[in-house]
Amino acid sequence: MSAPTHKGKVVVITGAASGIGEATARLLVEEGAQVVLGDIDSAAREVAASLGRDALFVCTDVTDPDSVARLMTSTVEHFGHLDVLVANAGIPEAKSPIHELDLAAWQRVIDINLTGVALCNQYAILRMLQGNGGAIINMASILAHVGQANSHAYSASKAGVVNLTRSVALTYAQQGIRANCISPGYVETPLLSRLPQSLLAAIVARQPIGRLGQPIEIARVVSFLASSAASMITGACINADGGYTAV
Ligand SMILES: NC(=O)c1ccc[n+]([C@@H]2O[C@H](COP(=O)([O-])OP(=O)(O)OC[C@H]3O[C@@H](n4cnc5c(N)ncnc54)[C@H](O)[C@@H]3O)[C@@H](O)[C@H]2O)c1
Repeated sequence: MSAPTHKGKVVVITGAASGIGEATARLLVEEGAQVVLGDIDSAAREVAASLGRDALFVCTDVTDPDSVARLMTSTVEHFGHLDVLVANAGIPEAKSPIHELDLAAWQRVIDINLTGVALCNQYAILRMLQGNGGAIINMASILAHVGQANSHAYSASKAGVVNLTRSVALTYAQQGIRANCISPGYVETPLLSRLPQSLLAAIVARQPIGRLGQPIEIARVVSFLASSAASMITGACINADGGYTAV
């Protein structure tokens, strides 16, 4: 099958300074899209600069409604419209048993990983309703589907993303907006580099394909879901996890 073409499409990607978001921005530009990188980390400015005229960086905090609204407004002002949202920004959590719950840490994870996704969906859909519909891809995780000891806020936030996506899909199914999510397994990105080496080794051993995923492997799933080849797919969650949740 030939690579999907995204010529003429304008795509907003949050969390695009590194990892999966950066790989997605690079792939979609290669496939013809114009991309807007919304990230709190200004390293995304260099990623955008390296992609030339087809990319724009907009400093964005996904937890702040004004900032998210500005991201979508800047996109439409700069590129004329908005066709695809990749709500990818997310953070890991400091793992601890729930009887030692740090409420501020819990709230921070929920604010970025779940409320941030909802805000991005809200302000992107406002623009898509003024245009020709669109496609939304929210980034969940295998931890939306399986439990993990000492992971509470992250798992809860990602499970929230999966069901939020289903409800968004049903709400806008007749208005030309598709909404799907992806649950990656463990992927080699800066998010994992904060984990102890021993835990990483255990993760690789637990992942049926026997290796970590690479960001480009998730970017390709984003590209598919954003393309017309996925025109019948909405409200779905694709597990790109090397078999992790099949066990
Ligand atoms: N790497 C994995 O193994 C893995 C597995 C499952 C799911 N995911 C999910 O994939 C997504 C991308 O993660 P990654 O692995 O590429 O990590 P990453 O750390 O490389 O990228 C996350 C990006 O989100 C940005 N970000 C954080 N807080 C933000 C905020 N408030 N506003 C805007 N941007 C913000 C960061 O600056 C960073 O650029 C996340 O949602 C993560 O939970 C990753």
